Amino acid sequence: NWTMSSFIDKELERIRTLVGPTGSVIGAVSGGVDSTVAAVLMKRAIGDRFHAVLVDNGVMRLNECAQVKKTLSDNLGINLTVADASDLFLGRLKGVTDPERKRKIIGNTFIEVFESESYKIDEISRQKGLGPIEWLLQGTLYPDVIESISFKGPSATIKSHHNVGGLLENMRLKLIEPLRELFKDEVRALGSILEIPDELVWRHPFPGPGIAIRVLGEVTPEQVQIARLADNIYIDEIKKAGLYRQISQAYAALLPVRSVGVMGDQRTYEQVIALRAVESKDFMTADWFPMPYETLKRISNRIINEVKGVNRVLYDVSSKPPSTIEFE
Ligand code: XMP
Repeated sequence: NWTMSSFIDKELERIRTLVGPTGSVIGAVSGGVDSTVAAVLMKRAIGDRFHAVLVDNGVMRLNECAQVKKTLSDNLGINLTVADASDLFLGRLKGVTDPERKRKIIGNTFIEVFESESYKIDEISRQKGLGPIEWLLQGTLYPDVIESISFKGPSATIKSHHNVGGLLENMRLKLIEPLRELFKDEVRALGSILEIPDELVWRHPFPGPGIAIRVLGEVTPEQVQIARLADNIYIDEIKKAGLYRQISQAYAALLPVRSVGVMGDQRTYEQVIALRAVESKDFMTADWFPMPYETLKRISNRIINEVKGVNRVLYDVSSKPPSTIEFE
């Protein structure tokens, strides 16, 4: 792809000129396509002077943190720090059921953890004589730029993402946004050229608050585990059925109710999993995906047999609007 290759050359040159021969950059990565592509570009441009930070918030998908670490650090060679803050996040979520409070707690805790990692990395970098961190990487795309200019003013770009504005002020960091002229499909094309594994390039979007907004009601480690296991089976079967790329986003939610069932000659009274799958161009509107019955049957059997504590599976047939893609 000629256009993308020349984009890469130009962008690497632009990054090197901006950052200079000694400057350092820090950025959060999530395992999503945007932050990964942005990180790989930085790695190509300035090597280990780019520091990536992955915050484990305790509500990522099953084995996701380890997988992301393996791909980014081992396979793509990115200078990565993993901050395991799962106990901190889950501790603060204890007893909280309100969706907006969950989001606020996770958002604020993320900023706190990312900032504290940034200070540590900055300190180590200075001690090694490599100079301070001067730049903050953001995987902002063109649609985000447009949205924040038209609705909130240009300086709000960062707020709509991770709101690490404190870092910009306290550490006097400058923003670097290599994807700010690209649309999602261009970022994916770029990811392929940069030899990022398909699995990552085509991964469904995943919200910052993660499984916490897919466990309705209180988010306990036990509930997170049930939602994770069910979600893992669901996505696994969607992939086996060859439907993953056709679907824009799919996940399993754990509902805050119990229902009666029967197992052998025993009455059960256990939890309910709801399956969501949507097709969408821009995630502003979405249609529920017509999942084949055979696939649904396999998924339902597997979840009920393999996930302890679940005795019923439902399929969500609501479109957006008036429903949203997430349950909370
Ligand atoms: P809704 O539920 O509003 O979701 O229809 C639209 C898209 O946005 C994602 N989403 C989020 N992404 N932080 C994120 O990074 C969030 O707090 C958040 N909430 C929703 C959702 O997964 C879907 O793709």
